[in-house]
Amino acid sequence: MGVVENSKLSVVGAGSVGTSLAYAALIRESASQVALYDIATEKVEAEVLDLAHGTQFTRSSVIGGADLDVVAGSHVVVITAGAKQQPGQSRMELAGTNVGILERLLPGLLERAPHAIYVLVTNPVDVLTLAAQRISGLPPERVFGSGTVLDTSRLRWLLAKRAGVTTASVHADIVGEHGDTEFPLWSNARIGPVPILDWQGGEPFTRQELDGIAHEVRNAAYTVIRGKGATNYAIGLTGARIVEAVLRDERAVLPVSTVLSGVRGIDGVALSLPSVVGGDGANAVEETPMSADEEALLAASADAIRAAGATLGI
Ligand code: 2OP
Repeated sequence: MGVVENSKLSVVGAGSVGTSLAYAALIRESASQVALYDIATEKVEAEVLDLAHGTQFTRSSVIGGADLDVVAGSHVVVITAGAKQQPGQSRMELAGTNVGILERLLPGLLERAPHAIYVLVTNPVDVLTLAAQRISGLPPERVFGSGTVLDTSRLRWLLAKRAGVTTASVHADIVGEHGDTEFPLWSNARIGPVPILDWQGGEPFTRQELDGIAHEVRNAAYTVIRGKGATNYAIGLTGARIVEAVLRDERAVLPVSTVLSGVRGIDGVALSLPSVVGGDGANAVEETPMSADEEALLAASADAIRAAGATLGI
């Protein structure tokens, strides 16, 4: 698909996630212009130069620097700025620091990009999504988080390898917190048209095996962080994919994190459910089927996110 003319993506934060996201967006031509902003002048200027030096090979252009004016007129602003997980640390442990950073950043961003859709990537993304929606006062659909789109990609990759099919033919979602209480909606998982437990290609899946796969997805970030200190490429691709759904007004169904009002009894918490993502932002698909057990897991995940936010007065 071609690049959408006059579409501007701003990426806030030139760390490993922000730069990977900007790079993925340039390669995928997710926006006609990518702007990268960070407070660290030398670092962000060097990153922008490095990216710009490659733009002969993409139809997207890149600008950026340490002046917040670079985000002016954005159609989408993706926020990646903040402290990152250290090996063994959970996403929730970053909440206090990163909500503080968000409080300082948002007013200036809103002033310069008042009509943008805001996408939170910084962790803990569900807590930050609710905080950003409350601070900005924007309609909930215009402020959402990358949520479990990445975890869902991890799940589909594992299932596809095991079943011997392409990832695009695996229909399964991780929902809830992007973090330790996330879980797959196995009751509705399919390979092609076949419910996952009925799949007969090779050995059939067992419940125990599916539990192991869910565990592997939940721990994937810990594994990568232990080995290389951060996760960046997969979240970069994930962010670029979400941005495209907005800028191309795709109305793609993706498990992003939105502030819920009464969906399955959950109110005033942001978490991921399959959601329609398009030019107006994101709306959860309220009728997403789930078993009674899955509904209980979703409520528990909402409670964990609510408790983390409450300690910060969100
Ligand atoms: C990830 O899941 C750490 O949230 C980041 O890769």
